[in-house]
Amino acid sequence: MQKAIVANWKMYKTIEEAVQFIVELTPMVASCKAKVMLAVPATALWKAAQEAFATNITIGAQNLDFHTEGAYTGEISAAMVKDAGACFTLVGHSERRRLFHESSEIVNLKAKAALAAGVRPLICVGETFDERKEARVEAVLKEQLEKSLEGISQEESSALMIAYEPVWAIGTGLTATPDDVYHAHRFCREVIAAQFGPLVAADVPILYGGSAHAENAFELLQIQGVDGLLVGRASLDVSSFGKIVALNDTLN
Ligand code: PGA
Repeated sequence: MQKAIVANWKMYKTIEEAVQFIVELTPMVASCKAKVMLAVPATALWKAAQEAFATNITIGAQNLDFHTEGAYTGEISAAMVKDAGACFTLVGHSERRRLFHESSEIVNLKAKAALAAGVRPLICVGETFDERKEARVEAVLKEQLEKSLEGISQEESSALMIAYEPVWAIGTGLTATPDDVYHAHRFCREVIAAQFGPLVAADVPILYGGSAHAENAFELLQIQGVDGLLVGRASLDVSSFGKIVALNDTLN
């Protein structure tokens, strides 16, 4: 499967900074093997999508609201992010779950809203430090995945992307061991297979996220079942992000 290297810029970058990044990244990824995707702040979506037009770079959102429209002050619908140029969206990032109280039921509604609008959902799942200590990794992943994927049709499943992001590894400089990553990815694929069948599950990209950077990307990308990386901090600097994309080119 073609690997995906996805940037999550979080609440960083003005429109001008986003454009500058894309201008510099474009030649760096012109003939790369990976699918290069940038999840940009909503304010930069439209301009970033214009700038990335006819390049190897795909632009996406970091969040959306699940309602189609209505009196929801401050919110942005799936149709709106699509209209602004988003081809994909992160859904259920752990910062959304933790800081904005998004449950897996909400994540499910958001994923369905994205699919209905033709925006590819990249659903994020992962355990906290305490949950890992209590040996509940599989239980947590199972619950998050089953609830997040509930009611999604077989037909829609081909648009799904998943990111396994252990919460304790995000923004901390800690990364899961290759063995932990391998087992978590294999388990996620089993849960997906239980709902959609093994053939679909084999084709759903499962990315790793959590302190992925140029120094550990090669090792992470080599782990069986890791179909790409979701990169936060190391995606803010174009040369470090470009280096991760280039490292993927050196894999067999
Ligand atoms: P990080 O963030 O790479 O800074 O750990 C990853 C993420 O939040 O998706």
